[in-house]
This record gives sequence, C-alpha cells and structure tokens, in this order.
Amino acid sequence: MRIRRSLIDLDDLTPRELRYIFERTEQFERTPPGPLLQGLGCVNMFFEESTRTFTSFNLAESRLGAAVINLAPKNLSLATKGETLEDTALTLGALGISIIVVRHHQPGFPQRIALAFDGHVVNAGDGVHAHPTQALLDIYTLREEFGPLKGRTVGIVGDVLHSRVAHSTMRGLQRLGAAVVLIGPECFLPHDYAGAGISVERDFDAILPRLDAIVLLRIQRERFVEMPISDEEYIAGYRLDERRLARVRNETIVMHPGPYNRGMELDDSVLKFAGWRYARQVHHGVGVRMAVLDFLVNPPAK
Ligand code: NCD
Repeated sequence: MRIRRSLIDLDDLTPRELRYIFERTEQFERTPPGPLLQGLGCVNMFFEESTRTFTSFNLAESRLGAAVINLAPKNLSLATKGETLEDTALTLGALGISIIVVRHHQPGFPQRIALAFDGHVVNAGDGVHAHPTQALLDIYTLREEFGPLKGRTVGIVGDVLHSRVAHSTMRGLQRLGAAVVLIGPECFLPHDYAGAGISVERDFDAILPRLDAIVLLRIQRERFVEMPISDEEYIAGYRLDERRLARVRNETIVMHPGPYNRGMELDDSVLKFAGWRYARQVHHGVGVRMAVLDFLVNPPAK
C-alpha cells in the first residue's frame, strides 16, 4: 500500500494512470497550477550527479508551493554518522516531511526508503535499475509528436544494459502498445532483453529507415571498469551521424535523455537536425514532475 504512494518505476502505474499524468502535464504546462503542494515539506537527496533531473524537480516542487529542502549527501548523518537509511526515513517523517525525491547508485535504494517512510518517495534514478520520471517525459515527448503510440516503432540505441532510462522507457512504451527495438552490440545489449513488443537488433543501418523515433543513450562508463568495445568500433556501428541521418524517414525524431557525449553516440549534425527533440524533453521535465508529485499527493478519484 505504501509503495503505491510512491513512484519507484513505471510498473507502479497502470496505462490509465500514465494517461492521467500526461493529461495533467499538458494542463500544468498550459496554465501554471496553484500551490497544490502548499505547506508540504519536500526533501531532495541526490547521491549522484544530476543537472537536468535535480533542477527540474526543484522547479516543479517550488512551482507547486512545497517547502523545498536539498540535502546534499555530505550533510546527511546517513553518510557520515552511521545512521541507517530506515532511521533517516523515520526522522524525516517525524519532522513532517511528506515527499522524498532520491537518486542513488544502488538499485533498490528508493524502494527501501519507501518501505520505511510514512510519505511519498519518488525515484530520481537508482543505479542501473529505473528512472521513471525521465521515462515519463520521454514518452510525453513522443506522444506530443505522434499522438497515441500504438503501432509506432521506437529504437533505443546503445548502452541499454547500464541505462536505467532505457529500462524504464521500454516498459512504459510496451504498456502503451509501441514497438520497441533495442539496438546495440552484444556487450551492451544481451539477447535476453527481447520480450513482448520488444525486439533486439544489432544492425543499426538496416533498421534505421523503419524507426519513427530514435532514442540515443550515453555509454555509462562510470558503471563498468573497462570499455568492452573500442570507441572506434562503437562509433562505426552505432553513432548517429550525418551519413546515417540521411537515411532516416522525414518525420523521424531523435531524442536523448542527456547528458550526451558529442562524438560518441552522436555527432554535431544531429544537434542541427530538424527532428532533434532534446530541448523538448528537458522542457517537459518540469511539467511531468509537477504532474507526478500532484498525482502522488492528490490522487485522482478511482
Ligand atoms: C540519465 C541518468 O542519470 O540516468 N540522465 C538523466 O537523468 N537525464 C542518463 C545518463 O546519465 O546517461
């Protein structure tokens, strides 16, 4: 029951709830909502670097009137004084905090807080596991472009194995009836990723003309010790560049959760491509996060 009050991954949301969050996002972007979180204490705990996610959660919370507290890891007794995660959650609850937004390198960390905390927890990225709000804003961007996603084909390219964004986004797309093609070398994309509505493809060039949208991923070098493929090999097989862009369909869009590495998964021609939607994605980050926070705190009538 408690877990339902939190957002740990997209599995927590039914297709109907997904659509509700997207409707609210649209409303909130059109007309700024009132102080829907007025008086609620909201703690952001980011144990990993973040530019986009951290800033947009802060904006979303303050636009909804929450009292926002950013707890840097070095200021947490959890990190330096031996307090357990569970006792930290209890302490924040006793202080009247209602919402914890957390990013951590350990998969499952936000779920552990959710179990101990008498309030709402939003996962802002846990290791290689999940990043539900990024997936929501990615899917929102796709829906803005194409409307309902049933029958659309979305290619997710690159280091799928270490990408929490890919893990969450593919589940959401699967739920909404889109066909997901995961594209990458064996080392970043094991065979067992294929499933209902999800296929695995090694040959980016062959599949390119069939894609409605291409989601590029950063190689998450901080998540493994040694690069399992040479940069040259990766670039030859999977970089989106001028030559490959010439082969995509007219209406195809290109996305990236950021941060992107110029020269690796994309070259500068992508940044000038008419279908490059990175800025739209970042823009929607605030609206989607307002909608998620509102959804958890003020749930819609069943
Ligand atoms: C991603 C993340 O941190 O999971 N970025 C983001 O939140 N927009 C992806 C990445 O780090 O490559």
